[in-house]
Parts: sequence; C-alpha cells; structure tokens
Amino acid sequence: MKVIELAVDLTIEIQRLKKEGNSIGFVPTMGALHDGHISLVKKSVCENNITVVSIFVNPTQFNNKQDLINYPRTLSRDLDMLENSGCDIVFTPTNSEMYPEEDTRKFNFGDLECVMEGEFRPGHFNGVAQIVSKLFRIVPANRAYFGEKDFQQLAIINELVAQLGLTIEIVPCQILREVDGLAKSSRNILLSAVQREHAPLIYKILKESLNKKEILPVSELKAWVINSIDADSELKTEYFEIVNAKTLKSISSWSDNGEKVGCIAVIVGKVRLIDNIRYNF
Ligand code: PAJ
Repeated sequence: MKVIELAVDLTIEIQRLKKEGNSIGFVPTMGALHDGHISLVKKSVCENNITVVSIFVNPTQFNNKQDLINYPRTLSRDLDMLENSGCDIVFTPTNSEMYPEEDTRKFNFGDLECVMEGEFRPGHFNGVAQIVSKLFRIVPANRAYFGEKDFQQLAIINELVAQLGLTIEIVPCQILREVDGLAKSSRNILLSAVQREHAPLIYKILKESLNKKEILPVSELKAWVINSIDADSELKTEYFEIVNAKTLKSISSWSDNGEKVGCIAVIVGKVRLIDNIRYNF
C-alpha cells in the first residue's frame, strides 16, 4: 500500500494506472476509521482493480470550531486498517496541500442544502462540496463510495457530480451498525461510557417507528420519535424529518409518492450523532 501526500504525485499515479487499463475506486474519508469506512473500502476493492482512500479532516466543512478540534485523529491505526482491507493507495494531504489559498467557491444545491444538516450546520455542505470537488479532480476515479449513514451528503454529492458534469459513478453503501444498533461513527469514541449506553436508543426508536407508520399519521409519528428519544436524560433530538429520499422535501402524508427516509440528529452531551431509516411500503 502506497501512502501519498502530494496531489500531483497521486494524479500522475492514477493516470498511469488508468492507462494500464485499471479501474479506480475512491473512498473519501476524514480518518478515525471504523468498520463502516472499511465496508466502503471492501466494496471498492471488490468492484475495482485499484482502491484509493483519502484521509483528510476538512476544516471548511466544520461550522463549529470545537468540533474540528475534538475530531478524532488516529492515522497510524487507520493505515493498519487500510493495509488489512486491501486498499492500494492512501492520500494523506496537509491543509496547505488541499487549500493553498482560501476556497471562496459558493455552491448552490437549492432545497437539498437548506434542510436538516444544512439548516443546523450552516456552510457544512458548501465545505463538503469544496473538498470533494477538489478530491475528484485529484483522483479521476471510475467510482466513488459514500455511506447512506450521511444520507443528505449522498444527495448533495450526486447533485455536485451532475452540476460539474463528472462521469464518476457514485456508489451508495448501506449503514454499518454496532451489535446494539448504534450506527458506527468516528464520533462514537467521544461518548462517555454512560452516553454510549444510552445512544443505541436512537436506532431502537427509529426501528420501532417502522411498526407505528401503519397507525400514526406522519406528524404524530414524528412527534412520537422525538418524545421517545428526548425522554432519555442523555439524549436531545435536534431534528427528525421524514423526507422524500430524492428531493429531501418533508412528506406530509404516507400516501405521498416516492421512497421515504426518516433522518435524525441527536445531541449526546457534546457529541452530535446522525442516523436514518427507510420507510418503504
Ligand atoms: P467521514 O465521516 O469520515 O465518512 C467517510 C465515508 O464513510 C462517508 O461516505 C460516510 O457516509 C461513510 N460512513 C461513515 N459511517 C458509516 C457507517 N456506519 N456505515 C456506512 N458508511 C459509513 O463523510 C465524510 O467523512 C466527509 O464529509 C467527506 C465525504 C470525506 C468529505 O470531507
């Protein structure tokens, strides 16, 4: 496994590999890797000749400075995990490599960026679009792998690719969970032992809500989810929305067209966790 720090070196290497007829799979990450990330890497390894993983904690997508400072960094462990999962190239750029000058680009994703994460983390998706568009230029891959855990991010990335006219195929990957149902996240290690015990309630309630959709209208089911989670002293729901999976517009009735996804953000002490569940009939 090669570790490359300079964008120009990586692009030359990718171009060489492509010329030799290799397909390239790309998994962008911010490190602090867990099995959820590794499931994306393994999917890429299965579907491509070469798999590239980037590790870069992107400052422009953090709307909260303290969150950026607290974000876990575990590079040498990450590299061991990637070596064992069949990754071929790891890109570990510095801040000045990715942002030699300030990136002032403003993307417009319309309604997709105004709701949920976009509403509660202003500027977050603009930062994601800045870094992912740079990474896609540096790594001209055939496919890029993104987790459904960040459901709204996936919608934004699909829109970004359409707007930029890129040919890269975006491959959605299912959420990997701990045995107790908590969605795997780099932020889970920031939870105290007590908070970690309470956090699985989020997915437990989301799952229970699947049975309630036959008996409760959308607005009542939303209230039931929020109240059930907030009844736990360690958890506070920031938002819970049931949206159309494509447009991310809130649905008002179960009879609305299209696939429906319930997206949630919950504050646990100083940590913010997100999760989602599909409500398909
Ligand atoms: P990060 O949070 O490190 O996540 C990297 C990728 O792993 C994302 O596509 C995310 O959805 C996926 N992922 C995280 N937890 C997962 C889980 N439990 N199951 C399946 N997939 C999971 O998302 C980012 O980084 C950044 O915003 C990035 C796209 C790298 C841009 O900086």
